[in-house]
Amino acid sequence: MFHQRKFKQVLVLLCALVATSGADSEVKNTLCDVFLQDVNYLTLNCSRRNIETVPNKWPEQIDNIANEGGHVLITFFNNSISTVTQLPEIPGNRIAISFKSNAIIEIEDDAFRNIQRLVYLDLSNNRISGEVLRSEIFQGPYNDGVYSSIALETLNLGYNEIHSLDRYLFQYTPNLTRLYLNNNPIEILDHVTVLALSSAVNLEVLDLANVDIDSIPLDAFRGLMNLQQIDLSGNKFVNVPESLSLVGSTLQYLTFNNNPIVELNDDSFVGLTNLVQLEVGENDFLEEVKRSTFTPLKNLRVLHLCHNPNLRYISHNAFRGMKEKWTLKEVYLDDNNLSELSTDLMPWSKLEILGMTGNNWLCNCDLANIITKQEAGAKFKPGEIPYCAAPMKFSGTFITNITLTFCPTFDSTYATKKGFSISNLRPKHILWSIFGVAMIVCAGMLIGLLVNAMKAFYNKNIRSQPIRYINLHSDSSFA
Ligand SMILES: *[C@@H]1O[C@H](CO)[C@@H](O)[C@H](O)[C@H]1NC(C)=O
Ligand SMILES: *[C@@H]1O[C@H](CO)[C@@H](O)[C@H](O)[C@H]1NC(C)=O
Ligand SMILES: *[C@@H]1O[C@H](CO)[C@@H](O)[C@H](O)[C@H]1NC(C)=O
Ligand SMILES: *[C@@H]1O[C@H](CO)[C@@H](O)[C@H](O)[C@H]1NC(C)=O
Ligand SMILES: *[C@@H]1O[C@H](CO)[C@@H](O)[C@H](O)[C@H]1NC(C)=O
Repeated sequence: MFHQRKFKQVLVLLCALVATSGADSEVKNTLCDVFLQDVNYLTLNCSRRNIETVPNKWPEQIDNIANEGGHVLITFFNNSISTVTQLPEIPGNRIAISFKSNAIIEIEDDAFRNIQRLVYLDLSNNRISGEVLRSEIFQGPYNDGVYSSIALETLNLGYNEIHSLDRYLFQYTPNLTRLYLNNNPIEILDHVTVLALSSAVNLEVLDLANVDIDSIPLDAFRGLMNLQQIDLSGNKFVNVPESLSLVGSTLQYLTFNNNPIVELNDDSFVGLTNLVQLEVGENDFLEEVKRSTFTPLKNLRVLHLCHNPNLRYISHNAFRGMKEKWTLKEVYLDDNNLSELSTDLMPWSKLEILGMTGNNWLCNCDLANIITKQEAGAKFKPGEIPYCAAPMKFSGTFITNITLTFCPTFDSTYATKKGFSISNLRPKHILWSIFGVAMIVCAGMLIGLLVNAMKAFYNKNIRSQPIRYINLHSDSSFA
């Protein structure tokens, strides 16, 4: 099946090549590969051909594509285009164009007006500055004195030289759902950039990774009623930005890797009630996950808390209040600096996948309880069984291999034994307690008497010589 299809594709490709070479290269400078799968799918591969200008005519095969349901992908990946001039018309219903890895420093007004059905545009890895990104570049056809919009849904502006966005940049792209701004020197989300972002009201995916920001203004996400996914990795945040709570009712995926946070606490994820997947990794300074950190995340299914080399401590209350309605299915704690976990951290048996490799596990009774009694040992992926680091005699053995004979039997009464109960008290305990309290009271009385005696002595002998303070401004003798 596969080979047959591949063969057919190669045949089509060959035919296309022959046809193109016969047709007096329409695409200027070089020959692109036309790959027409059927009337609904056409790919024009213009990658790596030292192209310097946008062609003003497409190969003829492009007219074979159906207007309804036609998908066209044109890629100019890795050429030397410096200016995006107006592109010729392209039939089809969903057009994708990539200018990834060129040398673009300018985009002309109306560059895409002939391609109203442009849904995907990749401008990443160029030299585009914020000034180049004016609303005019995305203007659609001009009818009855107004410019119409274009269908653009995905815009990749990653790896450019953008500091700021024009407030009207998204005026003609009302359907924009995915915006990638990663790896730009934004540094500060200034007022106009915030206005631009909040005007993209249909945004579902926003990538702000590696843009050197340390805060997000509260109103940046106001109006983004559909934002589902955000990446804030590789920035300078010392806290998870509070402004996220504005999109808390829609946000499902948060990636927060590689930021200088020191701890996660009950303020970190406030309001993110619909988050499904959270990733907090590669945070070199993260040391501690405190109580109630994950409590607001009422719908969390997947937690990645990995590659935090200084993460040493997770509070046994980190998931406080979540156990009654447990939603987590996958928890990854790989490659941190953890050595112990509390038996009641989470209802381990309710997980589907658990990752614990790459830590310094102390194989004690608590861990044995989690692994055996609470069945966490059955949740590891094949080949990802964690090792014990300590005590010495278990060092290097799988934590699923340890059997600790001296541990309390993990029956259901174990938990209650640890708790305090009046019925556990025996008369001997009570007598000792009363004696202890009496001793403390006596000691207190003795100390009180001693202090009073000292006070009396002090008042009599030392306070008789009052200290005089000199005011530098009012003391006439000083002048
Ligand atoms: C497009 O063409 C370039 C240069 O010939 C080639 O390296 C690349 O693999 C092609 N890409 C696809 C998707 O066919
Ligand atoms: C693009 O092609 C050049 C050679 O023309 C090469 O040196 C460079 O690494 C390529 N860039 C990317 C991103 O592939
Ligand atoms: C935006 O999307 C809607 C729904 O898919 C569609 O009807 C509309 O034509 C699109 N707008 C543009 C400018 O293409
Ligand atoms: C992990 O923690 C131990 C102390 O518990 C420390 O000595 C060690 O340097 C830490 N490892 C890393 C990679 O930071
Ligand atoms: C785990 O136990 C099995 C059999 O009990 C043994 O063959 C294996 O070497 C042990 N592996 C480790 C890493 O402890």
